Amino acid sequence: MSTAKKDYKRVTVKSLTEMKANKEKISMLTAYDYTMAKIVDGAGIDVILVGDSASNVMAGHETTLPITLDQMIYHASSVIRAIYRALVVVDLPFGSYQSDPKEALRSAIRIMKESGGHAVKLEGGKEVKESIKRILHAGIPVMGHLGLTPQSIYKFGTYTVRAKEEEEAKKLKEDALMLQKVGCFAIVLEKVPAMLAKEVSESLTIPIIGIGAGNGVDGQVLVTHDMLGMTHEFNPRFLRRYLNLYTEMTNAFQQYVADVKSLDFPNENEQY
Ligand code: KIV
Repeated sequence: MSTAKKDYKRVTVKSLTEMKANKEKISMLTAYDYTMAKIVDGAGIDVILVGDSASNVMAGHETTLPITLDQMIYHASSVIRAIYRALVVVDLPFGSYQSDPKEALRSAIRIMKESGGHAVKLEGGKEVKESIKRILHAGIPVMGHLGLTPQSIYKFGTYTVRAKEEEEAKKLKEDALMLQKVGCFAIVLEKVPAMLAKEVSESLTIPIIGIGAGNGVDGQVLVTHDMLGMTHEFNPRFLRRYLNLYTEMTNAFQQYVADVKSLDFPNENEQY
C-alpha cells in the first residue's frame, strides 16, 4: 500500500525538498535498533529518526537528557546496518552541541563517521545558530527541531503545547526562517497549534515535519513504539495507535509462561 508519487530507490535530503515541491507528504518514524529499522525501512518509510527518545523508550529514563553521544552512535549504527531506502537522521543528544560550535561540529562528525548516519537533528533556534552553521559548513545535513523541544523540558516545566501565545509564536516563525536561511534541509515542529504549523510550512520552501502539529505541514513523525501501542502510559491527543502491541505481547508472553509450566511447550515437533 503505497501512495508515493515518485519511486525513490534511496531517499536523500534532496528527495525531501522535491517531495515538498511535488506536494507529496513525507513519512518519518523512529527506530533505535536493527530489527525494528529493517521492518520500518522495508515498509517504505521515507525518513528514519534515531531519536534521543531512545533515552525514554529504550533506556527507561524520564527525559531525553541522560542519553550520551556514545549511546546515540550505538543505536544509529545498528539502524544503519538495516537500511536500504530511508534517509537516516540522528539526534545530537543534550550536551553535545549547546556549549560551543566546535564541540557541536565534533559531535556531528562522530555521529557521521562512527554510525554512518546521513544527517543530524538538533533542537533550538537562534541560540544554536552558530553551531548549526559550523556543522553545515562541514557538509553535514542538519534538520532543525522547534516548538516543544524535550531537551529543554526543565526550562518549560511541562510537555504542553508550545507557542500558543503571540510572542512565542513570533519567535518560532523567526527561528524557522533562520533555520532555512542558514541551510537546514527540514524542520521538525513538535506540539504547536495546527494553524501556526501550517503558516510556517506555507512560508518556507524546506519541509516541515510535524508531531502534534496538525496536517497542514509537509510530513509527519511519530515514535514507533508509541504508534505500535507498545507503550501504553503515554496518551497525547496527537498519537494515533495502529496496533495494541502492549496487550498482544502481554498475551503472548502469558501464553508462553502457561505453555512452559504445563509442559505443552516444546511438543514432539519442536524438539530433536
Ligand atoms: O527523539 C525523538 O523521537 C524526536 C521526535 C519526537 C521528533 O525528536
